[in-house]
Amino acid sequence: HGRFFIGGNWKCNGTVESVQSLIKELNEGSVPDAVDIVVAPTFVHLDMVKRELKGPFQLGAQDCWVGKGGAFTGEVSAEMLHDFGIPWVILGHSERRSLCREDDELVGQKCEYALSQGLKVIGCIGETLEQRESGKMFDVLDSQLRAIVNHTSLSNWDNMVVAYEPVWAIGTGVVASPEQAQEAHAYVRKWIADNVSPEVAASLRLLYGGSVNESNCGTLANLEDVDGFLVGGASLKGSSFINICNAEN
Ligand code: 13P
Repeated sequence: HGRFFIGGNWKCNGTVESVQSLIKELNEGSVPDAVDIVVAPTFVHLDMVKRELKGPFQLGAQDCWVGKGGAFTGEVSAEMLHDFGIPWVILGHSERRSLCREDDELVGQKCEYALSQGLKVIGCIGETLEQRESGKMFDVLDSQLRAIVNHTSLSNWDNMVVAYEPVWAIGTGVVASPEQAQEAHAYVRKWIADNVSPEVAASLRLLYGGSVNESNCGTLANLEDVDGFLVGGASLKGSSFINICNAEN
């Protein structure tokens, strides 16, 4: 394993009150030193979380604009996040791909620009159930990876992690089986070895996302090519998220 990595994607959730109590639960939790932990609140809550969340937790945004800021109503730019002291950004999440019509090329461009502005990127890929069942899973992963690789220079890979999140597992309670997760992760690592370099493939951290919870995280954490998780629903509950951060123990 690379250094274990846990991301908490809060998605479009939270009130001042609920975010405050989540911060409190996280601040009271105990997590291992040997794990990188990134939580990604909404843009609205980032400032509050930045001021109040302590200890080992790093911050991430859930998306950013594809290029330099300016006349782009409603958007937040990568350089703004960097200037504000937010080190990470999640890009290409399946909800943005499907609900906000972000295609592979746009996601690749977003990764490139965010990296160029000094952000670290959690780049997300993953197939739908229909794509998996019609035998297109590897083609889908190929083209999602291809678009990211085409925009990512070799020197930038230290600032990337890749999250494999099968769409059918996101928010459904249907977690990938250990075999399914390992198969996809091994495929991604081999693809990166063949298309970027064996060195990048060996050091790149591959996260699994989709219905990860405190009961299934232990088994998944033991898989050879799983270097961490991107957690949605269970990251909104402090005690569950803390337990997932301890999955390797
Ligand atoms: P759930 O953990 O709620 O399935 O969400 C996964 C996810 O989309 C994380 O980015």
